[in-house]
Amino acid sequence: MSQGRRPIILDVDTGIDDALALALAVRSSRAELVAVTTLAGNVDIERATANTLAVLDWLGTTEVPVHRGASRPLVRPHVDAAYVHGTNGLGNADLPASVRTIGGDRGPAAIVRLATSRPGELTLVCVGPLTNLAIALNVEPGLADLLDRVVVMGGAYAVPGNVTPRAEFNVYADPEAAAQVFAAPFPRLTVIGLDVSHQTALPRAVWEATRATGSDPHPAATLVVEVCRRSFIERGMTGFYLHDPLALAAALDPSLVTTEGSTVAVALGGEERGMTWITGPGNVQVARTVDAERFLAGFYETLGLPALAVDQRTLHPE
Ligand code: RIB
Ligand code: CA
Repeated sequence: MSQGRRPIILDVDTGIDDALALALAVRSSRAELVAVTTLAGNVDIERATANTLAVLDWLGTTEVPVHRGASRPLVRPHVDAAYVHGTNGLGNADLPASVRTIGGDRGPAAIVRLATSRPGELTLVCVGPLTNLAIALNVEPGLADLLDRVVVMGGAYAVPGNVTPRAEFNVYADPEAAAQVFAAPFPRLTVIGLDVSHQTALPRAVWEATRATGSDPHPAATLVVEVCRRSFIERGMTGFYLHDPLALAAALDPSLVTTEGSTVAVALGGEERGMTWITGPGNVQVARTVDAERFLAGFYETLGLPALAVDQRTLHPE
């Protein structure tokens, strides 16, 4: 690990909060962003990959390899979340397209290759559907022992869902993949569900204060302004949930959340598709509480945003 940084592979379906997680990974002094893998989720695989490259270029990070991954879920057709993220996946922000090419091997293969080359060192943070990780586990069953830690943004355990009353989007999008990941023998698997991520929204007031900043804000701050504009201005939201940045932050500082060792079940079909529930004790560490104030303060500081204190209970986020 370079200078005590945690080496991270970030698995994304770049959408708005994925872009903010990329910015956090690039700017954090606690992270070494080793590689990014993409997959279909919020938007299709081509947009998710193009968005990821464009965001990394915007952040001045052109040396981090991007590996295109799953173009659809394991079993079902792809469902997107364009109603939240805009048709282009970045809140319809017009970031310059990257001219960079993607890495030679595909997402799941890159995860296996990197974990094998750095056994026990890497943390994999999955902030989209779990298709890439499920495929990687399929082709390399020993992967669970090769990764130091896995953190997943996914599920809703004691709160309603966000894509149906019962299901969170990342699990709903590929429930079979989620079931395989939750059943895998990872020694350290933490799951960040809506139970905690719904306590961590970016307030519109912080966004407006950032937009008003006259000085030369870091590209991470201007990225926040650009990709959140549609949510706050066109859709009139007062907050935008920071699901994916929270998952990354919890990988870098596990003390941000408290967890409960659980066995997690996933409903695969019907009206309950994507519902997640705890059936008893187990090795999946499900986040139960979050120090939202400390997370948000760290997020603002790392991305160069004004640290306004806003009561999360006053927000009505997307
Ligand atoms: O339910 C929230 C999750 O679904 C986030 O990862 C968001 O980016 C979408 O993928
Ligand atoms: Ca995501």
